[in-house]
Amino acid sequence: MAENTKPHGTGSTTQAGIPAVSDRNSLTVGQDGPIVLHDHHLVETLAHFNRMNVPERRPHAKGSGAFGELEVTEDVSQWTKADFLQPGKKTPMLARFSTVAGELGSPDTWRDVRGFALKFYTEEGNFDLVGNNTPVFFVRDPMKFPHFIRSQKRLPENGLRDNTMQWDFWTQNPETAHQVSYLMGDRGIPKSYRHMNGYGSHTYLWVNAEGERFWVRYHFLSQQGVEGLTNEEAEHLAGTDAEAHRRDLFEAIKNGDYPKWDMHVQIMPYEEAKTYRLNPFDLTKVWPLGDYPRHKVGTFTLNRNPENFFAEIEQAAFSPANMVPGTGNSPDKMLLGRNFAYADAQRYRIGTNFQQLPVNRPINDVHTYNFEGNMWYEHTGARSVYAPNSFGDSWSDQVGPVDNGWEADGDLTRAAYTLRKDDDDFSQAHDLVRNVFDDAGRDRLVETVSGALHDVVEPVLSNAIEYWKNIDQEVGQRIEANVRK
Ligand code: HEM
Repeated sequence: MAENTKPHGTGSTTQAGIPAVSDRNSLTVGQDGPIVLHDHHLVETLAHFNRMNVPERRPHAKGSGAFGELEVTEDVSQWTKADFLQPGKKTPMLARFSTVAGELGSPDTWRDVRGFALKFYTEEGNFDLVGNNTPVFFVRDPMKFPHFIRSQKRLPENGLRDNTMQWDFWTQNPETAHQVSYLMGDRGIPKSYRHMNGYGSHTYLWVNAEGERFWVRYHFLSQQGVEGLTNEEAEHLAGTDAEAHRRDLFEAIKNGDYPKWDMHVQIMPYEEAKTYRLNPFDLTKVWPLGDYPRHKVGTFTLNRNPENFFAEIEQAAFSPANMVPGTGNSPDKMLLGRNFAYADAQRYRIGTNFQQLPVNRPINDVHTYNFEGNMWYEHTGARSVYAPNSFGDSWSDQVGPVDNGWEADGDLTRAAYTLRKDDDDFSQAHDLVRNVFDDAGRDRLVETVSGALHDVVEPVLSNAIEYWKNIDQEVGQRIEANVRK
């Protein structure tokens, strides 16, 4: 059948806006002859295609996201002066949920921690909370993070994932026990992104208008409820619909079934952190709710899908360093390490001026003394390029102690945190497995761990059995019986 030769609509253009003659036939010497290099439209089409990808995120490569709004329904002004957290405030936002270890095309339903990254476009600049769906994390020193992620990814020789490598890292680092227990339990594979809670995990700082400081932990509780998938359901979906969680989120929002999360905080008075029985800056531990109950802040709703996945989700750049007045860091070494890592990754991943991209751009005016570089889109005209200057271009000059800081002193040292009275690696993991999981949940835990250990080699297998006995003697024995039979 003859090819339809009518142009569709008004036709397309080259990237320079010039009418493109054909999107179907390249320019050739005679109908059957060679193509020619000066077919600019063909060359541009092939060259741009070769550059469509940006490097995927090193961890959290596979993700999905949506836009929405945070509404503050309670009064938390006694603890923070952050403008966007004042009563009645509504702030536009973006959320991106992800798996950690899998690559861009990996199944949504592999057992893994889920990322829970939030960007609030506040009038005082972007506030990002880059958390997970678990309240704790595997390690507590940033030096260990790249080792941890490499151990969860792929072997150097054959590019295969490897249970031995994963369990070797976990058992060599017993502070992972709490997070690993979480991961191997019923919350280890959420039913969907809508059916999981989010946590800031770290301890952060809040400062009120009087300059009083408070330590906080953020919890986002799903109004959809928390539900998980069984191993069988997850494996089936991984094979039949690798994008199950992406599809679920997109379709729920498209159908007007907007997911919501209630934002809560645990508050620890500043001075109490010095003597609390657990190191409150250790993110391998929770702050027990009996000691520090949750206080509601408000609710966020996701109500708008991206119009373009690449532009708005792949190019989204979240960073724990994005903090607004009234909020701050804490002495958590991991959090401090993360302050460097994210923007550095994003300069590499999406370019020096990634903050000028629409999805990352703050809604307030930017007046920075960082200039130029690749893809510098929003230029600054003839503004002064240095500070201080004598020509009225504003610059900042606060001196003295910062209001969102803390006291620190001592020799430069390389060491783990000083242990507090109740600090140990296994108690909270034991509590989770013995007192939070029920009998059926423990049975599934034993089954999941036994499955994950099926091909693990010595000495890692023995170490893993020991690790589980340290978490819970009975659970460890049952796992041993399963894997040694
Ligand atoms: C020292 C420890 C850590 C380092 C160095 C680190 C580093 C990174 C890097 C480089 C990325 C990719 C960023 C990008 O390309 O845009 C990333 C993504 C992410 N990380 Fe971390 N990370 C650390 C710990 C954590 C912890 C403790 C959490 C959660 C409590 C976390 C949650 C996330 C999330 C949710 C993302 C995906 C953000 C998105 O959706 O774009 N990370 N991390």
